[in-house]
Amino acid sequence: MITIALPKGRLAEKTLEILKQCDIIISENTERKLKIFDISGQFCFLFVKPADVPTYVDHGVADIGIAGKDTLLETNLPLYEMLDLKIGACSMCVCGFEEQKNPVSATLQVATKYPNIAREHYLKKGMPTEIIKLSGSIELAPLLGLSDVIVDIVESGRTLRENGLCVLEKICDISARVCVNRVSLKTKNKEITKLLKNMEEANASL
Ligand code: PRP
Repeated sequence: MITIALPKGRLAEKTLEILKQCDIIISENTERKLKIFDISGQFCFLFVKPADVPTYVDHGVADIGIAGKDTLLETNLPLYEMLDLKIGACSMCVCGFEEQKNPVSATLQVATKYPNIAREHYLKKGMPTEIIKLSGSIELAPLLGLSDVIVDIVESGRTLRENGLCVLEKICDISARVCVNRVSLKTKNKEITKLLKNMEEANASL
């Protein structure tokens, strides 16, 4: 039995499409049920909050997880990142008003849903910052003077444009990754390796 933690929402749907191509099929109605099995009974799926996927995999209650690179970087748990599904592609960026390209304040105020990614980014640059943790609507922070800049996901760029902001600096590319528990990769190596290979091929053919 292989247990796979899926992030509830669009990413789970996309992943289930890929798995269907690998002949892993779910027959149950998945609307509200949080733990289901495929028809062969070899795979168990957990539908979890996207930000919690790495935790389930790290604790070994799931062998495999599908998580955004943003979530993996932010949680920074010791998992094996095995496959880039290249879905949900976007970027992690520093954004703000154009004039913030050359910040003037001694301590840059940074609003973000990703405090660890933001802290790490500015630590590398040796820039002192005050990190302000928010849960959403991050683009409001510079508009209201709550922060100088934001560190956030940019996909189409529409939210930035509609709020008069722009990308000041790209931090990294983001997409959905398959991560694996370190012990599971040893104890279930054959099954997991085969599944990952099938998923890679199925994903390429979609
Ligand atoms: C995310 C992100 C940006 C927006 C970027 O927010 O935090 O606000 O999407 O997408 P875009 O470049 O295509 O406009 P989300 O929709 O998750 O909502 P949130 O503000 O509640 O975090």
